[in-house]
Formats: sequence, structure tokens, C-alpha cells
Amino acid sequence: MSATLISTEGWHPASWRRRRARQQPTYADAHALAAVEARLAAAPPVIAIDEARHLRIAMATLAGDRGLLLQGGDCAESFDDPVAERVASLASLFDAMAARLDPVAGGPLIEIARIAGQFAKPRTSALETQEHSTLPAYRGDIINGAAFDTVARQPDPARMIRAHLQSVGAAASLAAAREPGRPIFTSHEALLLPYEQALTRRDAEGRWWATSGHMLWLGDRTREVDGAHADYLSGIENVVGVKCGPALDADDLLALCDRLDPANRPGKLVLIGRFGARTIGEVLPPLMRATREAGLAAIWTIDPMHGNTTVAGTRKIRRLPDILAEIDAFVAIARVEGVHAGGVHLEMSALDVTECLGGRGPASVDELDANWLTACDPRLNRTQTIDLADHLAALLAPAKARTA
Ligand code: PEP
Ligand code: CO
Repeated sequence: MSATLISTEGWHPASWRRRRARQQPTYADAHALAAVEARLAAAPPVIAIDEARHLRIAMATLAGDRGLLLQGGDCAESFDDPVAERVASLASLFDAMAARLDPVAGGPLIEIARIAGQFAKPRTSALETQEHSTLPAYRGDIINGAAFDTVARQPDPARMIRAHLQSVGAAASLAAAREPGRPIFTSHEALLLPYEQALTRRDAEGRWWATSGHMLWLGDRTREVDGAHADYLSGIENVVGVKCGPALDADDLLALCDRLDPANRPGKLVLIGRFGARTIGEVLPPLMRATREAGLAAIWTIDPMHGNTTVAGTRKIRRLPDILAEIDAFVAIARVEGVHAGGVHLEMSALDVTECLGGRGPASVDELDANWLTACDPRLNRTQTIDLADHLAALLAPAKARTA
């Protein structure tokens, strides 16, 4: 490896290869994989480093206890998505949420979509059995196909090229949908490490940036402190999110923050709690206390989706009342702990989908079939998302009145 590629800290975009990497596909053809990696390494970045730097600067405001982060979009993007239409409708959904939340944000409202790279999914089981056959699980369109057949489920590295192309298109549409003063940034889970490595680029000062998205996050299933994913995310300059599930204890969290950002830079880390409405009351207070007492600049936000998932038959079920209850608990706990409630992370669609139960959505499991379109987890539909924004605005309004 050439010396010019080694950063001053001894980290390199390929350093993760020395560590255990969970949730990676096994590609049958190593030559095909290497050819794809070389193509991506020479391909245009999905986002500009300057924009990712702007996001870092904007997020530092939240670390100073002002403002709100709205992050949301599909659980998983699909190669079948009508990109221009999808981007336009998502931008309009962000506008509708911002109209409600801007007045109570108490600072800048930062918008980050789960788009232009949100193609890889962690799975609980590596295999899926239907009737009498067992095949590799579907891991997202960047890895294999959703159809339950041998050919579709074979991981194909060429899918990374297609995901990159779609991401470039989505990022360009997103930039065109907004004036530069009011950007919607892009984000995804940094899961498929060969893809992330190939799109990692250096700036003029020699610092490394992921150019696959403005913000990347570490998933709850890949957050081992000495694992490959934490290694990759420790070396890039982008804003990095950390999904914090119910099994994370305070010592693990402090170790992870130290691993990802030992310099404790304001605006660098976003802790995304996803505990479940029934668990958050027990798990979050000690975690918030630990980050506060350690003087960490990391911003706390809440993902009220992934801890509130149950299963009915083969279908994942989420209920709006549980989602709202976890947001209520998050805001209440943050107040008690003296921590800034920094934002929400949602799986949401601008379409009239019938994927989450409750509110102005399907009332019973029988109604879920009507317009179930998700490529992975159930999303809030447009009206459910807007109602959630109203609910959050009402929760935050008293805080604004207190500080006014
Ligand atoms: C997700 O955000 O789609 C996801 C898989 O989340 P988590 O890692 O929190 O389960
Ligand atoms: Co999901």
C-alpha cells in the first residue's frame, strides 16, 4: 500500500479489513468484487466533501444545545424507486414537518434524509426458509434481490455500481429540490464496507471523508467497539450516528464514543436511541447521565421506530401510539437529565402507505395489505408523519416558552 494513502493517525479506509466485519455478504467471485471496487474508487462521489463539512458545522450548534435534527426516509431504498418523484415528495414532507417544527426548534432545523445510499440492511438471520427451501436472506438491493429464488438471493457485486448510480441521481435531485441555503442532507447506515471504502476520499488537508453520503451511522447490530464498522467510522470526518439499542450499557457507550471520536468534537457524533416505548424509561436515563457526566458533546436524538416493532405472522408491526410514547419519554427524560433533546429519526414515506397502525393510518392488521409498499420495515405515512410533527411541536413548545 502506498505511503501517500496513510493518514497521519495511521488510519486508512481499508483498516477495517483487519477486524471482524459482521453482516457482510459472501461474494462468490472475488475478481468481480475487486473489479467493482476499482470502478467505484474511480467513480464520482455521491456528495461533495464541502457539503459534508457544512453539515459538521451545522451540527455543532445542536451540540451547543440549540436546534433540532429531523432525520427520516425509507427503511430501505429500492432499485425500483422512481427517483425524481421520490425525492420531490420527500422534500415536500420535510417542508411540512419544518413548518410545524421551525417555530419551536429554538435554533436551526437540520434536515437529513435516509436516501441516496440507504440500500443495505442488517438481518437477524443469514438465511430465510420458506416452505421447504432455504436461501440467503435478502440484504438490500445493493447486495441481492428480494425475490425468493436462488439467482436473486446470490450476492452480486455489480449491484454496488447500480446503487451508486441511483444514489448520484438521488443526491443531485435532492440538491435541485432546495436552494443551497436550506439543504436536505443525505444519510445511510454504513453497513457494506467495500462500498464505503471505495467511496472514501481525501480533502486538500489530507483528511478522509466518506463521499457516499453526508452523514453515516453505525447500526445497532454492528456496533462492536473493536469491530470493522466502528473502525471505518472512526477514520472519516463526516457526522457519524450511533444507533443505541436496549442492550447498550453506559460503559459500552462511553467506549464507543471514545473509539469514534476521542477528541470529543462538537457536531461529530449523534447518538440515536432506539429502545422501545416500554424500555426507554429504564435504559436511557443512565446513558444520558453517563454522556453528560463525561462531558461528551455527542447529540442525543430518538429513533422511535426500531424499538417498537413486533411481528404478526410474517409481517413486522408498528403502532403510532408506541412511536409517540417513545418520543414523549425521550423528551421527558432529556429534560430531567438536563440533556438537549436533539431530534428525531424516522422511517417515513410521503406516500399514503398502510404500513404502521394507528392515528390517521390503518386501524387493524387486516388493513395493512391495502398499500403496503416498503422494501423492509413499516414506515409512517404522510399524515401520520405530519401528525407526529405536530405532536413533537407541542412537546417542545413549553421548552421554548421557558427559555424565551
Ligand atoms: C435501520 O435504521 O433501518 C436499522 C436497521 O436500525 P437499527 O440498526 O437501529 O436496528
Ligand atoms: Co428499518
